Amino acid sequence: MKIMVTGGAGFIGSAVIRHIINDTSCHVLNIDKLTYAGNLNSVSSVSGSSQYSFKQIDICDSAALKSVFSTFQPDIVMHLAAESHVDRSIDGPDAFMETNIMGVYKLLEVTRGYWNQLPKDKKSNFRFHHISTDEVYGDLEGENDLFTETTPYAPSSPYSASKASSDHLVRAWHRTFGLPIVLTNCSNNYGPFQFPEKLIPHMILNALAGKPLPLYGKGNQIRDWLHVEDHARALLLVATSAPIGKTYNIGGHNEMQNVEVVHAICDLLEEIHPEKPEGINNYQNLITYVTDRPGHDRRYAIDASKIERELGWRPAETFQTGLRKTVQWYLDNKSWWQPVLDGNYHLNRIGKSGG
Ligand code: NAD
Ligand code: DAU
Repeated sequence: MKIMVTGGAGFIGSAVIRHIINDTSCHVLNIDKLTYAGNLNSVSSVSGSSQYSFKQIDICDSAALKSVFSTFQPDIVMHLAAESHVDRSIDGPDAFMETNIMGVYKLLEVTRGYWNQLPKDKKSNFRFHHISTDEVYGDLEGENDLFTETTPYAPSSPYSASKASSDHLVRAWHRTFGLPIVLTNCSNNYGPFQFPEKLIPHMILNALAGKPLPLYGKGNQIRDWLHVEDHARALLLVATSAPIGKTYNIGGHNEMQNVEVVHAICDLLEEIHPEKPEGINNYQNLITYVTDRPGHDRRYAIDASKIERELGWRPAETFQTGLRKTVQWYLDNKSWWQPVLDGNYHLNRIGKSGG
């Protein structure tokens, strides 16, 4: 089977690719623009495999997309490429509208053209899997409410509004043109190879450097954390076995306030890495409360019972086991994150991108 993964140099896309190459015999074509968030070092453990290939492509470039569809001939497209960081969408929404809306439109049109001309058996087995977020639902009012697959859309940020738009496009291409799609909406991911602008790696690396740990507002917002490798398993399961047209919510049953997450990181660092920068007695003393994110969603929590019931998926990691592994991974993998912090990881792309 041939799987085209968009955004495979990003955090979740690279976990999907490592899972496919390590655990299946499928062939993968990674297509990625290599924005600031794309890093081919995240797939270096599998990129030597004969199952793997890479093309540096912007999903807004229809001609380039047509060319790779025609040469690779995918059975499945797993679409993860996106601008993904809420704070950046507030500072500058343009790239979000381009990639997350226009890029999805371009990709859908090229996929439709390719799918339409496939022979009958290949056509009926083809899937376009759109990977989306729980942020399309906005935030939850009641303490015990959960997002289900039928929760109405109410996005709050430019990022989540652009992802909601893309979900609508994907469903419209299914209903109007018959494109065989599946869709997933997932909660906050964490784990290895996450770009250090996101809460968990940002806090780990700032703590190690003795820098402030900035919590937005009161730090009492709630997120539902899922280990990225559990997400990658769920995604491949949906892409290869979900019925056409279905949507699944994916979550880890790990609701935590941001301040609790940061305390847990500090406690783990005290235990595993007690050697602190000079002048720092306690990692928790680095916590600082800063101006809140505009439009900040208060609480996300996922009802993942549909994917558990229908496809038999369950997360393997608890937050305690997954966070410990993640903190240890950042301690052990300075060679991955230091070039990212220095901005030098761009150099690592040269000669590896394959054009
Ligand atoms: P990421 O920012 O780490 O990676 C995104 C990747 O997409 C990068 O490699 C980047 O180079 C690539 N990309 C960006 N614009 C592109 C374009 N125009 N053409 C081709 N490639 C482009 O993101 P992530 O955290 O891995 O998220 C992947 C997907 O999962 C996104 O669609 C995101 O909305 C969704 N999602 C993320 C989370 C999370 O917690 N991180 C949770 C739920 C859903
Ligand atoms: O819910 C899924 C979404 O999770 C994905 O769709 C997004 O792509 C992904 O970025 C993530 O969005 P969040 O905004 O929830 O993630 P982030 O790591 O930016 O922030 C998590 C929480 O921590 C949020 O409430 C904001 C807060 N925060 C974040 C940072 C970076 C802080 O308090 N301080 C910080 O420095």
